[in-house]
Amino acid sequence: MAEGNLKQRVEVIGNDEIARLCMAFNEMNEKITTIDSERRQFVADASHELKSPLASINVLVESLISSELSNKDMAMEFLQDIHSEISRLSNIVNNLLELTKLEGSFGVKVEKFDLNDVCLQVVKRVGYIAKTKNVEIFYDGQSVEIEANRDNIFRALYNVVENAVKYSYEYGRVDFWVEKDSRGAIIHIKDHGVGIPEEDIPKIFERFYRVDKTRDRKTGGSGLGLSIVNEIIKNIMVI
Ligand SMILES: Nc1ncnc2c1ncn2[C@@H]1O[C@H](COP(=O)(O)OP(=O)(O)O)[C@@H](O)[C@H]1O
Ligand SMILES: [Mg+2]
Repeated sequence: MAEGNLKQRVEVIGNDEIARLCMAFNEMNEKITTIDSERRQFVADASHELKSPLASINVLVESLISSELSNKDMAMEFLQDIHSEISRLSNIVNNLLELTKLEGSFGVKVEKFDLNDVCLQVVKRVGYIAKTKNVEIFYDGQSVEIEANRDNIFRALYNVVENAVKYSYEYGRVDFWVEKDSRGAIIHIKDHGVGIPEEDIPKIFERFYRVDKTRDRKTGGSGLGLSIVNEIIKNIMVI
């Protein structure tokens, strides 16, 4: 196994300590095999996601080169499309880097702060996007002191509230409230938008997972937001 042959299994004979050790060894082997295939899948998915904006940029640049650039407006339009594809690419790369950083971050810096302040900051920041869709965010908060990494909590809440707005219908409302709990706080974020089909719910934390691929291509989501949220919340649970 150490040499990379993960197909090895040890034979379990009897029911003594050695047999149980063999079973534990096989179980560990199975976990490693799963992690290995998830890693391969991830590399395949990431390459695929990066490939499509690159292909668009390629086509756009080729047409710019071959056209005589007599029509300045058209050239401008192409450049704008290239610009938005590049933004998309850098968005994916930034999110991937963030995920990698979170994964290896045991013992992130924690501090005591008021969750209410962070929530208000989130409402303000997502508010700009909400306004363009006439979605209203109703926040009902209270002071709760928690101990965590403040930037990560902001990022996690931002991603979920942003989703709530992004997947709301025009003139929709998002409710966001905080409940005190013996172990800290329970945060509720509720929207009345398109919703998530029951069968997709277990998959939404997977990297690059989007319920509706076509719709999300237009809104520019990479399907990494909730993976980042998941990673952040997992880290908190460790503390
Ligand atoms: N509030 C929501 N309402 C409906 N669908 C949602 C909501 N939040 C997340 N989703 C679904 O889960 C997918 C993954 O979310 P996320 O990881 O944040 O990626 P994205 O970059 O597409 O927002 C989204 O593409 C969307 O299909
Ligand atoms: Mg999102």
